[in-house]
Amino acid sequence: MNHPLTELNRRLGGIAYGGDYNPEQWPRETWHEDVRLMREAGVNLVTVGVFSWSRLQPRPGTYDWSLLDEVLGLLHENGIAVDLATATAAPPPWFTRRHPDARPVTASGTRLSHGSRQVFCPSHPAYAAAADALVAQLAARYGDHPALVMWHVHNEWGNHNALCYCDVSASAFRTWLRERYRELDTLNEAWGTDFWGQRYSDWEEIDPPRETTALRNPGQELDYHRFSSDALLDRHRAEAALLRRFAPGTPLTTNHLGTLEKKVDAYAFAPECDLISVDHYLPAADPDGHIDLALNADMTRGMAAGRPWLLMEHSTSAVNWQPVNVAKRPGEMRRNSMAHLARGADGIMFFQWRQSRAGAEKWHSAMLPHGGTDTRIWREVRALGADLASLADVVGTRVRADVALLFDWNNWWALELQARPSARTRYLDLVREWYEALWALNITCDVIPPGQDLTPYKAVLAPNLYLLADEHADALTRYVRQGGHLAVGCFSGVVDARDQVRPGGYPGALREVLGLRVDEYLPLRTEDTIRLSDGSVAVQWAERVEPRGCTATVRFADDAGGGPARGGPAVTRHAYGAGTGWYVATRASGPTLREVVRQVAETAGLRSVADVPEGVEAVRRTGPGGSFLFLINHTDGDVDVPVGGLGLLDTVSDGSHTKIPAGGVAVLREERPPRQA
Ligand code: GLA
Repeated sequence: MNHPLTELNRRLGGIAYGGDYNPEQWPRETWHEDVRLMREAGVNLVTVGVFSWSRLQPRPGTYDWSLLDEVLGLLHENGIAVDLATATAAPPPWFTRRHPDARPVTASGTRLSHGSRQVFCPSHPAYAAAADALVAQLAARYGDHPALVMWHVHNEWGNHNALCYCDVSASAFRTWLRERYRELDTLNEAWGTDFWGQRYSDWEEIDPPRETTALRNPGQELDYHRFSSDALLDRHRAEAALLRRFAPGTPLTTNHLGTLEKKVDAYAFAPECDLISVDHYLPAADPDGHIDLALNADMTRGMAAGRPWLLMEHSTSAVNWQPVNVAKRPGEMRRNSMAHLARGADGIMFFQWRQSRAGAEKWHSAMLPHGGTDTRIWREVRALGADLASLADVVGTRVRADVALLFDWNNWWALELQARPSARTRYLDLVREWYEALWALNITCDVIPPGQDLTPYKAVLAPNLYLLADEHADALTRYVRQGGHLAVGCFSGVVDARDQVRPGGYPGALREVLGLRVDEYLPLRTEDTIRLSDGSVAVQWAERVEPRGCTATVRFADDAGGGPARGGPAVTRHAYGAGTGWYVATRASGPTLREVVRQVAETAGLRSVADVPEGVEAVRRTGPGGSFLFLINHTDGDVDVPVGGLGLLDTVSDGSHTKIPAGGVAVLREERPPRQA
């Protein structure tokens, strides 16, 4: 049987294309124009009802299906399929009025007001009851609707309300803790409550880590992150169970936030979905936002276990929630879409179809802008629809990666708790630096959690593993011993799953594999830089490394410029078992990390996807349908790439060379793809 997404693509006749459709914002006449223009643009799938709860249930106990009945019918008549949302991300005002204590409370005790979305406490039973009732009704009414091809559970779980500190949450937290620890003494031990006299003698004494006088207990805070993510996961499971019960046979998804959201462990939600979808928005302040995009896409593929996935939302141009909302340049939206497609997406969707004229997101771009069809954005949206239609053969092909990059929400939470050696050590920065080295070398990686099977990968990169659970440490050790190649970034292997420091010297769990011991961590002042023996400059962090079998391949400079660890190892390499372990004991710059990745690649026998100039992104998808090489030119100049094939899109290829205009995208259908190492 086909994967549910591939089956969906089959029903759609190709790559999914469309966006969030919010018809309730517009008069009925507009709906007819909407579907006409959707067809003109090649839209074949829209997400309906994401924020429609107050229309679907205008009063407690009263449902009104007229809007959905009509809109779903109209879409179906026009051959546009529907991803129907459960609408639970925006409880109506009547709900809040009835249940004022279901509003979320901040760590400082402020109860939030209605007037936005996701105004609910994830653990509140009144919310659960109201949401479940709505989902059951929706599922029963539309489960057999011919337009329905997919269920869209909630919307971006935890985007605005993941951490709630109300009394209901407190009580749910205690229940969660009892299940996790069973004995209060085990919890006391895990949280180190003998420090600062915090020992608990009754479960009822435990509260969420609310705002307090000084530093909070880190174990308590780490567990609060876990609990809060799990509370939302429980809600997801409840909605999914209702959909499966009342409307079996239609695949369900939820739009994950990927690295956009620290508070929700997206990997934990993935197995609870029939197909994986994600949202991604470019950070406008980042001139290389397309690298952030690639990282998220590779993570989404990791969640999808290598299978195709769906880009549920991105933007045609500017968003409206960053300090300065930079508009995309002509061609950028196409490059973004093609980069997602290249990395395994079999659907390209947007927030939203028609740009709002009222409400909080009227300055967010859409497929159909305020200016209508005589606009650059609309022309690009239409052209993209045609491009995607011409790439239908790509559907179902896979991206193969021989490298895994480890990403872990538990680690993200732990690393950024209070009172660490340096508050400047931010997880996403570390991940991004390492990912960027892979991106620059066009080595495709899967971004996966450390608990996943590593044996399919020739090499594993771990930008940071500050928190490393025992079983994950064992798996990494075994991986290297059996011939795997592992490169690890600074401040890793330090604490166990409880956030307790591993004794005997850093990097605790990784000393043996890396063949070294770290005597002391030496964070740097903001303004300080240190020189390395490879001529590069590092920042923020140094370590006094004592080799125990490893070789230093780069050292901190031997003079005062080498900083507090002057003369010591900065990058090391260690033969261990049948494999190799590298360690980078500082915040190295791009060239140093690229060299580490190059060495890993050489040792592990990894190759770049294609030999292309800097700034050109190369990714390959292969499958029974063929082999497709995507080449995305992020530079301002035309490039000539020494690879050939049958050119799709606007690609000009003579069989051995391909020209890609500045900012352009080439897709080559290859006769015989070069063996990817
Ligand atoms: C999120 C939400 C959408 C919309 C966009 C704006 O992704 O899911 O409803 O608010 O952000 O960028």
